[in-house]
Amino acid sequence: MQPTDGFTHDLVVIGGGGHVGLPLAIAFAAEGCSVLIYDVSERAVAQVNDGQLPFDEPGAADKLTAAVESGLLRASNDPAVVGSAENVVVVIGTPVDEHLNPDPQAIPRALRGCSEYFRDGQLVVLRSTVFPGVTRLVEQMLSDLGRKVQVAFCPERIAEGRAMTELYSLPQIVSGRDQDTRDRAARLFRRLTSQIVELEPEEAELAKLFTNSWRYIKFAAVNQFYMIADNRDLDFERIRQALAQDYPRAADMPAAGFAAGPCLFKDTMQLAAFNDNNFALGHAAMLVNEGLPLHVVGRLADEHDLSTCTVGILGASFKAGSDDTRSSLAYKLKRILGFKARHVLMTDPYVTTDPDLVPLERVLAESDVIVVATPHPEYRGLVVDKPFADVWNVLARAAT
Ligand SMILES: NC(=O)c1ccc[n+]([C@@H]2O[C@H](COP(=O)([O-])OP(=O)(O)OC[C@H]3O[C@@H](n4cnc5c(N)ncnc54)[C@H](O)[C@@H]3O)[C@@H](O)[C@H]2O)c1
Repeated sequence: MQPTDGFTHDLVVIGGGGHVGLPLAIAFAAEGCSVLIYDVSERAVAQVNDGQLPFDEPGAADKLTAAVESGLLRASNDPAVVGSAENVVVVIGTPVDEHLNPDPQAIPRALRGCSEYFRDGQLVVLRSTVFPGVTRLVEQMLSDLGRKVQVAFCPERIAEGRAMTELYSLPQIVSGRDQDTRDRAARLFRRLTSQIVELEPEEAELAKLFTNSWRYIKFAAVNQFYMIADNRDLDFERIRQALAQDYPRAADMPAAGFAAGPCLFKDTMQLAAFNDNNFALGHAAMLVNEGLPLHVVGRLADEHDLSTCTVGILGASFKAGSDDTRSSLAYKLKRILGFKARHVLMTDPYVTTDPDLVPLERVLAESDVIVVATPHPEYRGLVVDKPFADVWNVLARAAT
């Protein structure tokens, strides 16, 4: 790929030091594109330029080192780099606030911070998951600045931990106000994947939110089933496996477990806010999924006097095999237990950012009761010789 019109780089990724921006930047560089990262995090920028991944992402480390060594990838805290590239991809975080309100100005605000560097002829690709209408806001904002740029919305759909395969295997949804913009965005993403799906911007914004809300609601359905069964001392997983056996209409029923992380909950709340809080299924899903740790502790308290117990929590990250603790329900569990139990210990084989974590052996030795918060592969089949709560069904019971 050769940058055109006096640009020195093919693309710049704004927010490219983050969990999805960095794998994307690495993937484009691995395909021969010259890539810049603009990120406000000095730590992330320094680590990337050192060839170090700031977080776990399987398959990304070697490609990052190679991309930095070849000169195809460089990170910067200087917004001026935005002016160097023909394509500007925006993938900053879009969290909801503590009252679950989305911030439709998050992306426009970030872009205003580097607005003086936008140049005529650029393609601006919004890739964050946005509150519907943000693409139009950005189009208006850039037009008000007098910039002749094209704006596309091309949502990121990878799951953390699978970025370096899914960036190449998932179809890419491409949206833009006109065919020329969509064609230009499609040409960019064809560097990674052959399948392009076109939508209008407003359709694509909803497509992303519908996808994440759908997953969140599905997890809530099984988590509610789990609680119904568990309240009657019945094993939900045994029931689930039996009902799905050679029965295709139930084959997609997921297992129960903590539905957490930086996307599903907040995107369901973004969709609810977009629909004037009229999203009964989304709000019900929130109550069920966020209620599961309370249910787990309630059931433990039925059986044990927690005020005299040390409770050990296995897992801190929001999902198996990950070091990402953002919006992890393991920490909600810890907070609830911190109020009810004599002592709480937590362990995780991947997380390196929490100084309060202790080794697994210590948790197993000192705890009176164990709770599995994250189904890390390391816990599969682990033999535990004390009472435990295991929504995920990963532990084995010691022979008695
Ligand atoms: N995490 C996922 O699995 C996933 C999957 C698909 C889509 N998404 C969406 O992608 C977006 C990014 O998510 P993430 O998990 O990578 O977030 P993140 O917090 O890991 O990364 C965001 C990055 O943006 C940087 N940043 C913030 N404000 C900035 C600014 N004004 N200018 C430049 N850089 C800035 C941050 O320093 C950070 O490095 C969100 O909209 C999210 O919903 C995430």
